[in-house]
Parts: sequence; structure tokens; C-alpha cells
Amino acid sequence: MQSFVYTSHQQRIVFGAGTADQVRAEVERVDGKRPFLVAGPRVAERITAALAPLTPIVFGAAAMHTPVDVTEQALRMLREADADCLVAVGGGSATGLAKALALRTDLPQVILPTTYAGSEVTTMLGETANGRKVTRRSPALLPETVIYDVELTVGMPVDLTVSSAINALAHVVEALYAPDANPVTDLMACDAIAGIASALPRVVASPDSLEPRADLLRAAWLAGMCLGAVTMGLHHKLAHTIGGAFGLPHAETHTVLLPHTMAYNAPAAPAAFARIAEALGAPDAPTAVYDLIAALAGPTSLRAIGLGSADLATAAELAVASPYPNPQALSERGILALLTDAWHGRRPTPGPLSPADRLTEQVVASFAAAPDPRSKHLLTGLVRHLHRFVVEHDVTETEWSQAIDFLTSTGQKCDDTRQEFILLSDTLGVSSMVDLMTNSRTADTTPSAVLGPFYVDGPPTRPQGFDLAAGLPGAPLWVDVVVTDRRDVPVSQAVVDVWQSNADGFYDVQLPDVDGPVLRARFRTDDAGRLRFWTILPAAYPIPADGPVGELLSAVRRHPYRAPHVHFMISAPGHGRLITQLFVAGGEYLDSDTVFGVKPELVVDFAARTGPTPDGRAVDGPWHSLSYTFRIA
Ligand code: BEZ
Ligand code: FE
Repeated sequence: MQSFVYTSHQQRIVFGAGTADQVRAEVERVDGKRPFLVAGPRVAERITAALAPLTPIVFGAAAMHTPVDVTEQALRMLREADADCLVAVGGGSATGLAKALALRTDLPQVILPTTYAGSEVTTMLGETANGRKVTRRSPALLPETVIYDVELTVGMPVDLTVSSAINALAHVVEALYAPDANPVTDLMACDAIAGIASALPRVVASPDSLEPRADLLRAAWLAGMCLGAVTMGLHHKLAHTIGGAFGLPHAETHTVLLPHTMAYNAPAAPAAFARIAEALGAPDAPTAVYDLIAALAGPTSLRAIGLGSADLATAAELAVASPYPNPQALSERGILALLTDAWHGRRPTPGPLSPADRLTEQVVASFAAAPDPRSKHLLTGLVRHLHRFVVEHDVTETEWSQAIDFLTSTGQKCDDTRQEFILLSDTLGVSSMVDLMTNSRTADTTPSAVLGPFYVDGPPTRPQGFDLAAGLPGAPLWVDVVVTDRRDVPVSQAVVDVWQSNADGFYDVQLPDVDGPVLRARFRTDDAGRLRFWTILPAAYPIPADGPVGELLSAVRRHPYRAPHVHFMISAPGHGRLITQLFVAGGEYLDSDTVFGVKPELVVDFAARTGPTPDGRAVDGPWHSLSYTFRIA
């Protein structure tokens, strides 16, 4: 049983893109009328505009380590202007000054962070006077409101982004083995580690994209929450001592040291490090962090950020000068070895791996020379997932050889007209998952749906108004569709291929007696992007079930049926190709389509009608009509 104490603090968080525009509303929420704005010149103008008609007193001289003389200078300005609330935009220096002023005035604070340092969500403040840094904690220091505006982080240079994010990572690594760790900080820490590891490379690859920046900022917020809630260990002690004593840059010092302090502590906190490794998606946490930093061209050596080798011994001495909680016992010799490794920029030695992890790493390493980075990435992920699957499910030799036999017969079933692997991918939902990913990239267009095995390239070209059914029995169906672009402008002369099953659920290629293409055609939209033709109502049908995929379905008591649908493939110059299907509302199997192809937006009323038809064609009895607008990218 874990005993713990957890104190939560009340604070308002406003997170999003463009949220800086809400600063006036947030100031008014804390009854502010004359804000004191701590901000550098770049952002001061933007925030001043957002505060209008309130007019802030602007202070632009916040400094690193929150020197008391700067605070006093700001305090005089604040009192002269009779300011009634504090607004700070920036990194640790701006936030630190706001906190220092709040401590002396008790004024409410609204903070807009522009880095990942996390101080805005802690009750801590480190102030320097006469070259000495004094750190205090008080609930009074906690800012009332934090406005995270992802747009404020977009301009952050890539090198600062990396070191600031690794600084945040250090908070959550240390939170997991903190003496006062608790279920709340553990959850936040694991989430933040995974978030930073996944978002940071995406931010570096595309520094101006909002989504990766948002993921990173969200993770940094959680990391700040952990920093404020539990006691940090050797890593923070060392980073602050070295940074303070030798004037090294704060975030960079954290970045260089983190893999090494982790390697020092890992053997003493195996459970915490197993969670860190899992969140990082790697077998060994310290080397994974080192590799992440190196891959993103972050600093990996103390020498490169300005520490002299002669200072290493002093640094080790300082680090053990006063006791503090840390999983590994603090030994001056051990810390000197750690610092020496960090000074040279050496990759930490990985801890011992389990035989299973060692095997996975050997296979992953075998892809090291792959020239195409995407192939390398996909193969690495595939091997990690496959290996993990085998381990987690304790797969036996018999089970694995059954799996190989199944795949072998799947391959053997394939020929020029039968693709059993596609059926397998379809019935396991993989085709639809790839399709979902594709759709998610263009959310404002008509969703796509799987191609299926019955498309035949180069269908016969037909004029508008044509009847695809060629006399086959079935309920007549009038189709009237429009193709537009994303701005709803009609796309004329779009090529629209259509194919479907007959009233018994068969495609022409499945019927030996049918001569030539039936129920399939190539049309072109008219000048208004419109296409009209006749066909028959499609029926539900089973996918080919006389092979291994059919055996699989019956082994798990699944039916092989597809919900009734008509296929469309739409292409037009300058537009992305759309492959999709329209499903008959109220048709069978909509909830259990065997290839998981049904999407709500594609289920359409094939309305029953009687009486005259739109083109005056004579139809005996009832007929159906389908109208739809396809939006293509
Ligand atoms: C089809 O709709 O034609 C289809 C799709 C996936 C598997 C089998 C058939
Ligand atoms: Fe189909």
C-alpha cells in the first residue's frame, strides 16, 4: 500500500490558440483595472492591444534568477501607478518577477507563458540578492490565472524549444521517483513524458505547426504541475548548483545533465524507471533521453555549453554539500563520474536489458542504415509492436506456426482476380483504419471508404442519363449527385467511376454468364458539377468467404455480409481523388458491415418514389432516388 499526502491548489487555466486575446476578460475576472504588465518588447505590444481599453504600465526589464533589485525597481513603478493586478508574458524571468511582486503586494497574477519551464503553476520562487539565490514556497505565490496561448510559443527558436522541453521533461522524470510522489503526480508525469517524447520531434520538424506545439505545451503544463507538487532530487539540485555557480544557461544545463542524472538514479528506482521507459516507448530511459536530445541537435555536453573541466570537482563537491532526498545515495565520486560523462557528452551506458528487450533492440538496430527514414520508422514500430504482442500474449510455438500457415494459405488463395490479403486487411478493419487516418487529414471533405476488390480499371464511358442496369432485374434507382470543391464551388468535367452489385448481391466479375461490364461505368460531371443516371438498388452481399478469411470469420461466428452500397471514384485535375461508397439508409448490416466501411456521413436516403420520373423515363411501379453532394479536396 502506498501512503501519500497530496495538496491541490486552486488555479484557473485557459488553454488554446489565440487565447491571449482573452487577457482583458481574465484581468477583469480578478477585478483588475490598472494592470502592471511584465513583458519584453516583442509581446508587450500584442498584449497591450488585447488589454484595451485598459492601459497597462509596462515593465520590460525582468531578469534571470529574479534579482531583488530589479523587483524593487518594478515595485516602485507599480506603486506609483497604483496598479491593481499583475500580468506577465514570457518565460521564467517574467513569471518570476510577477511572483516576486505578488509576494510583496498580494496582487492577483495573470500569466501568459511563452516557454515550457512551468513556473506559472508552482508555488515556488527563487530570488537572488548579493549573488545568493533563496528559494521559497508559499501558496500566495501561485498565479490566479494562467493563459496558455499556443500561438505565443510558435515563434520560439528550435534550439530553445528543445532545451526548454527537456527542462520540462526533467520535472516529470524526477516526479516519478520523488519521496512524496503520489497517484496524481504519477499520472500527470507519465502523460507528460509520453507527450514530450512524441510532440518534441514533431515540433522540431515543423516549428510553425500549431498541433504539435499544443501537445508540447499541454505536456509542459502537466510537468509544471508535478514540479510544484513534489520534491525534486539530484537532477534539479545539480542543474541549479552548476547553473548558479558557473553561470551556465538554465535550460541547456538541464538538457545536458538529464540523461546522466537518470543513469545515476536508474538502478535505485527500477519501478519509476520502468514507467519512464514505457512512457518514452524505449527499453532504457536514460539512453532514450540522450538519443532524443542528440537526434534533435540539442546540447549533449557541458563542455559545449561553457563549463571548464577544472570546475567538475567543485561541482561534485557542491552537489553533496547539503543532504536532500534522492533515490540513489549521493556520493561525490559517483557524481564526479556522472559530470565527467556529461562534460564529454558521452552517451550513458544502458542498464541491463531483459533478454526480450535485448532481442527487440537488436532487430531495431538492424534497420540503422535504412536510407529512407519513413521506412525505418515504420519497420521499427512494427517490430516493437510485434515483439510486444508475442511477449504480452505469451504466444506459443504452435500458435505462431498456425498463424504462419494461415498467412501462407491467404497468399496461396491470391490470383489475378482474387486478393485474399486485401480481404484480410478489410475484415480486420485495417483498411478502414488507414482510411480513417486519410479522412482525418481533410476533415471538411466527403469521407472516403475502402476500394474493395471489385473495381475494374477503365470502365466503359457512358453519357449522362445512361442506365447502368442494362435490363437486369431490380428496383430502378435515379441517381442525382453534384461534385464540389471544399469551398462548395461545383467541379465540372470530374471523372466519376461508379460500380455496384446486382439485386442478388453479385458484381459482374463474379458472374460467369454475364458478358462485359454491367453495373459499372465512367461518367463526367456537367458544367454545374452535376451527374444524373439510372441504375438499380444495390443489395447486401457476402464478401468471398470460400478462403482462409471466410474460415476466420466463421471461426469467430461473424457473418461475411456488406451493407448495401454503391461505389464512387471521383477524379478531377487539381483535386485529390476520392474513393467512397454511399450506403442505403435502413439497409441490412449497417451496424455490422463485415469490412467496417460504414460511416454515418455516407448513409443516405435512397428515397422510394412513385409517379413521373425526373427525366420522363417510363417506369412501371415504384422507383428510388438518391441525391448527394461530394466535396473533394
Ligand atoms: C466491396 O465493397 O466491394 C468490398 C470491400 C471490401 C471487401 C470486399 C468487398
Ligand atoms: Fe462493394
